[in-house]
Amino acid sequence: MTHIGTKPTKNAKLLAWVDEMAALCKPDKVHWCDGSQEEYDRLCQELVDGGTYIRLNEDKRPNSYLARSHPSDVARVEERTYICSEKQEDAGPTNNWMAPDEMRGILNERFDGCMKGRTMYVIPFSMGPLGSPIAYIGIQITDSAYVVTNQRIMTRMGSKVLDVLGDGDYIPCVHSVGAPLEPGQQDVPWPCEGDISNKYIVHYPETREIWSYGSGYGGNALLGKKCLALRIASTMARDEGWLAEHMLILGLESPEGEKTYLAAAFPSACGKTNLAMIVPPEGFEGWKAWTVGDDIAWIKPGPDGTLRAINPEYGFFGVAPGTAYDSNPMAMETLKQGNCIFTNVVLTDDGDVWWEGMDGDPPAHGIDWKGNDWTPASETPGAHPNSRFTAPAGQCPTIDPAWEDPAGVPISAFLFGGRLSKTFPLVYESFDWNHGVFMAATMGSEATAAAIGQAAIRRDPFAMLPFMGYHMGSYWQHWLKIGQRGDLKLPKIFRTNWFRKDENGKFIWPGFGQNMRVLKWVVDRVHGKVDAVESPFGMMPKHEDITWTGLQFTRDQFLSITDINKDGALAEVEEIKGHFAKFGDRLPSELEEERRKFAERVGMAPDVWSLSA
Ligand code: OXD
Ligand code: MN
Repeated sequence: MTHIGTKPTKNAKLLAWVDEMAALCKPDKVHWCDGSQEEYDRLCQELVDGGTYIRLNEDKRPNSYLARSHPSDVARVEERTYICSEKQEDAGPTNNWMAPDEMRGILNERFDGCMKGRTMYVIPFSMGPLGSPIAYIGIQITDSAYVVTNQRIMTRMGSKVLDVLGDGDYIPCVHSVGAPLEPGQQDVPWPCEGDISNKYIVHYPETREIWSYGSGYGGNALLGKKCLALRIASTMARDEGWLAEHMLILGLESPEGEKTYLAAAFPSACGKTNLAMIVPPEGFEGWKAWTVGDDIAWIKPGPDGTLRAINPEYGFFGVAPGTAYDSNPMAMETLKQGNCIFTNVVLTDDGDVWWEGMDGDPPAHGIDWKGNDWTPASETPGAHPNSRFTAPAGQCPTIDPAWEDPAGVPISAFLFGGRLSKTFPLVYESFDWNHGVFMAATMGSEATAAAIGQAAIRRDPFAMLPFMGYHMGSYWQHWLKIGQRGDLKLPKIFRTNWFRKDENGKFIWPGFGQNMRVLKWVVDRVHGKVDAVESPFGMMPKHEDITWTGLQFTRDQFLSITDINKDGALAEVEEIKGHFAKFGDRLPSELEEERRKFAERVGMAPDVWSLSA
């Protein structure tokens, strides 16, 4: 086996581990990634030569590439994702579990020789600013150059990480696409394991290890993101007294220069990236919105008792369809600067990219995500619904000047949102911390047609359902414990719902940039500038406390997205009972108590509770 270059570290544990992995995976070569531009360009060129990447039009998309995945490898595989804690009960009812020894047996077989004919890349990466006390270092081993190039955008990566690591410890992350090459065998543009039941995304929380086999796509393969920064980090956070959350981080600056940071959790497909890059609309002259992160927040108590958040990532791995100047101009501007990788979008005839929902007319002709001719008359979408852009966060025009501050930014409010067409008001604030934890633990979105027949709301507590590294009930307990510490300046907690519909099934609230009106009310509540009205759900805004300048939205419309239908609320009380029952004796009694108080408030409410009363 050939080693490319000299080994760039003296870390004995790391050197021994890389040797051990090479002996197991049996690659042709081992390549320690230095993270340089030269290395990136060279790997991209190799990917172009091998048919994985298509170089895009240099004038329109400088230094950018398009990849098309295998049609079977297009998303995270939750059903193949495991939390292998020693005891099954520690993984909890929301995770797949297998005993660590049994899983190690399976994986050892899969990984034995899995990199034959390929290069094994060693990627040192930091989640969080290099050297920040909130950051952690991971080392990913992979046989995919696509992964290496994406990781260079998504994380701080390369030799500088090894310099910071020194003799220290790191989180080992092992990845293979699971497609060894026999001598002389021709490679394919997107190697992966075709049989889904042979894919494994495995976490050992006690030993803090990640092993991923068979997929080259997104969260399955870029192991710093969901695997490390959420599943493994959530268990570290529990042990060490901090929070690893599936949250965007946003700073709002008033015309007077007062900056207020929010962290917000929304289930998939609720516009998280849009909110992270919100542009204040007409009526908010002098206000600025600053992006710190669009997906993950690591939040640690600071010396002054504030909760300080960093974005552990270095780039955005955003869903492309629906991203447009209309919905998210800052994302479009980020992409325009180039240096991006697009996966599974349409290639236009002039070497640009396109996806459904982009502004303007669709191209008359293009090549779809499967590599076939496509026109607007085609019956299938041109871009896969989960097609993605990988873009450097630093290119976002609204990136916060403090986004790389190793100390993090102080969080003043948590927002939790769902996608709910009725009953749930536009925004409400919790009565206190425990009630806020209850609001987050019960959040969810209306089930899609396929899931109906079970509960009407598919619960996604804290938007962490697919990303929890341990028992969800213990995680709620951990949040409650943060509230009991007494030495912390606790953020206020809010629930939002942008998605109420009228009797014709149309969204009532305009959403997108107009959500700033709700955020401004949140900021005013944080600074004690406005009071609020008590409702069965929580504290709600008075009509006159929301800034309406620049928006045609009547008071009646506002009342129609803030009223509470008693039957709907009673159904919610009942559904929560079923939801909580799944967590057995790990359900914190405080949350059942919150449910009981909620039931009481609803019981006393009129048939339709309204802010107009
Ligand atoms: C993501 C997700 O890709 O939450 O960020 O699924
Ligand atoms: Mn996410």
